[in-house]
Amino acid sequence: MRLNPSWLPACKVVELGSGLGCCGVTAACFGADVVLTDLVDVVPQLLRTIELNRGPISDGNGKAVAVELKWGSNVQPILDVWGQPPDLILMSDCVYYEESLQPLLDTLRALCPPRKQILISQEFRDTGRQEFFIGTFLRYLSETFDIIEVVDDLDEVYRSKDIHVYLATKRAFPSDGEDRKPTV
Ligand SMILES: C[S@@+](CC[C@H](N)C(=O)[O-])C[C@H]1O[C@@H](n2cnc3c(N)ncnc32)[C@H](O)[C@@H]1O
Repeated sequence: MRLNPSWLPACKVVELGSGLGCCGVTAACFGADVVLTDLVDVVPQLLRTIELNRGPISDGNGKAVAVELKWGSNVQPILDVWGQPPDLILMSDCVYYEESLQPLLDTLRALCPPRKQILISQEFRDTGRQEFFIGTFLRYLSETFDIIEVVDDLDEVYRSKDIHVYLATKRAFPSDGEDRKPTV
């Protein structure tokens, strides 16, 4: 997305399934206060990415830390980092296997407060049932979030027809479907 980076300074951001940490660290370089998360085995890689980018993060007045978060587990250690919920959740390429759908939805619902947003980017691969998982994920997410697909505002150079970007805003009064489980 062609972001106006002026809204990122002081924005409290959690990235889920950070992997190498590219999205979260980029947000930190634009001034955001970021908690990068992933499975425990990936945390050392996240710490290394943060360390390698200390200079640009500090030049941008941002912050970045890495904390273990397995989807579906207790999110309190993440909330404890600031003593308040995040302003924004980032999620890049995290919908790709069936078993993770319910825990991922649980984590998003637990972490995201009403009226705050999740910025989701997702590659659609023509392998297995991934497209079906993504459809199922978005359908269940839409029970508590208003979702729009970002189409026009994508960078001409970096956009790809396989990569879809969504902005999900948590409704103030979730529907009574919150507790329903996906059947995939
Ligand atoms: C396809 S990678 C995407 C990495 C990065 N976000 C990117 O766009 O390059 C998916 C990431 O989700 C993480 N992941 C998978 N299952 C997870 C789970 N149950 N809990 C937390 N993270 C998980 C993986 O470790 C991996 O880093």
